[in-house]
Amino acid sequence: MRRLITAELGPDAGEWQRRCEACGVETQRLDLTETTLASQDALTLVWMPCPECGVRERMARAGVPQTLLHATLDNWRVEDPRDARTLAKVREFVARPTGFLILASPDFGNGKTHLAVATLRTRITRGIRSRMMTAGMFLRDLRRRYDDGRAEDVVEVAATVPFLVFDEFGVSVGGKDEQPTLHDIFNERYSERLPTVITMNLTPDQFREAIGPRMASRLREATFAWLNVHGPSCRAGNRQTYLRGQ
Ligand SMILES: Nc1ncnc2c1ncn2[C@@H]1O[C@H](COP(=O)(O)OP(=O)(O)OP(=O)(O)O)[C@@H](O)[C@H]1O
Ligand SMILES: [Mg+2]
Ligand SMILES: [Zn+2]
Repeated sequence: MRRLITAELGPDAGEWQRRCEACGVETQRLDLTETTLASQDALTLVWMPCPECGVRERMARAGVPQTLLHATLDNWRVEDPRDARTLAKVREFVARPTGFLILASPDFGNGKTHLAVATLRTRITRGIRSRMMTAGMFLRDLRRRYDDGRAEDVVEVAATVPFLVFDEFGVSVGGKDEQPTLHDIFNERYSERLPTVITMNLTPDQFREAIGPRMASRLREATFAWLNVHGPSCRAGNRQTYLRGQ
């Protein structure tokens, strides 16, 4: 069997590992027992599950969009010197998540959601039940909640999940019916000391107005850090690269 495998993989694959084809990040080891069992007639290589793909699967189930499954704290680039402190504070938060972490910037595409997803990744890898939702998804599910009794109760989930990322706070379509509900959710998380990451494009004044003065004052008490992200939009960079035809 060993000779067959070496012939198949070549001498370079001495440790019988390969780069995972799905994520392109982790190495996968050959599962020798399963390969032996599966190779009755012909050599059939069976690889161990990729740990990174396992994490990404759990992140996707927690609500992380496909485009951000790669996000980690290590691959977040500090594009503006002031963001070094932002990253350091986020690292401090994930070491001991408590209260609310707010990631804000008036600009788009400079890595707020990337950072928020990276915090969620650190929870998921520790087996802590986590959820991510955008304000838009929250609203949509809130409305659906009344029509479909069997659907997961988004309010219950948001209020009680041990770790929540609430993305794009302040982006809302339609009326103000969600404000009291959001208020209750944040209030419950505040009372139960459940860590919460919020991203937004609002200024502190706009945030105060959106959440109401009473809740704003409670949140101030429970806010681990309000962090501004200063870097330029990565999407603009991508666009310029694209337009240069590279
Ligand atoms: N500092 C950064 N380091 C690495 N990747 C980044 C950084 N900033 C942005 N990106 C990448 O650019 C894309 C957009 O980033 P992201 O969605 O986090 O932006 P955002 O600040 O949340 O934007 P918006 O305000 O529109 O929600 C993502 O693919 C993300 O991985
Ligand atoms: Mg975002
Ligand atoms: Zn993988």
